[in-house]
Amino acid sequence: MNSPLQIAQTNIPHDFIDLGAGEPQLDLLPLDMIRSAAAHRLGQNEKEFLQYGVEQGDGYFRAALAKFLTPRYGFPVSHEQLFVTSGISSALDLLCTLFTKPGDTVFVEEPTYFLALRIFADHGLRVVSIRTDESGLVMDDLVHALKESTPKFTYIIPSFQNPSGHTLPPECRKQLVELAQKHNFLVIADEVYQFLGYTQTPPTSFGAEIDSGQVISVNSFSKILAPGLRLGWLHSNSTVIQKIITCGVLDSAGGLNPFTSAIVRSLIENGDLDKNISHLINVLGKRVQIMDEALREHLPQVNYTKPHGGYFFWVQSLDMDAQELQKKAQAYNVGLRPGVRFSSRNSLTDYFRLSVSFYNEDEIKKGILRLRDCLKT
Ligand SMILES: Cc1ncc(COP(=O)(O)O)c(C=O)c1O
Repeated sequence: MNSPLQIAQTNIPHDFIDLGAGEPQLDLLPLDMIRSAAAHRLGQNEKEFLQYGVEQGDGYFRAALAKFLTPRYGFPVSHEQLFVTSGISSALDLLCTLFTKPGDTVFVEEPTYFLALRIFADHGLRVVSIRTDESGLVMDDLVHALKESTPKFTYIIPSFQNPSGHTLPPECRKQLVELAQKHNFLVIADEVYQFLGYTQTPPTSFGAEIDSGQVISVNSFSKILAPGLRLGWLHSNSTVIQKIITCGVLDSAGGLNPFTSAIVRSLIENGDLDKNISHLINVLGKRVQIMDEALREHLPQVNYTKPHGGYFFWVQSLDMDAQELQKKAQAYNVGLRPGVRFSSRNSLTDYFRLSVSFYNEDEIKKGILRLRDCLKT
């Protein structure tokens, strides 16, 4: 019999628990909501969303999104400040194309989202990493780094960071924007976990700072609906938006994802996005609790701070190399992501990332027990 062809990016064997995996579990993807939103949209006698789209993205979708964001952010968001993307990854790629050239410097957090590092490498960018602590970016280190070089942009994940789970406090956000104005660099705030606060609400979106002229907030439906939608948004001022929407690729292709945007518009307008986020907060919040309890009970030798939101536990394995641990853990059918992957300086070797996104509570407990058995040896 032929083996089935692959659809999803990750293909984890059935009996393996990869606690490092950062994608949502299939059970968390809201097929019913997407089915009824699609039925609603396809049931209208309008077919403009099958046409090349306006460069900035479907106006009605942006209006629905702006209406959704305004009460959640606590300040007015206008459809004119939003640009529709195919998710954060391609938004970052587009921003690199339009705002940088090979050899330019960009600043990132240490640790940072490792796949963003891959995108920056594709553009030949020189990455300088700034140390973080429990409160995110260490501002003194940033000030120091700015004496050495000025980046084209600083890329940060300000809320429930991947992988550390840390959230940057309001006063540091303010200082970052002031520094960006003073030294003329952009702040690209990747806010993909902004809505997934379980025991804490993070400070409001960096979208509040777009009038500074230096700030671009990027966000996505990947973690609040489904990554397969490949849909997201960028929030910035008119200068940035104009530069983006007049670029060659959009001139040729039209706006991104008009078809998906039209369906997600129905899902926002009928209130299902709100419901889905509440559901995720409930399920993932419980999983964080379970993972915390399991770690405390079975792995008392590691250090971590329980995250208040997002997907990740950032665990310090003390004097052990996490890549070695990952190799050993394979034999116990359990996985993790070694910290070195999140470092642009090949450091953080004693850290690893665990996630609550891909496994249910029982599987998380089982996975931690497997890690315990592995660590016993
Ligand atoms: C911090 C961060 N940014 C971006 C992404 C990817 O976003 P998208 O699916 O919108 O490209 C992820 C996914 O894991 C992430 O953790």
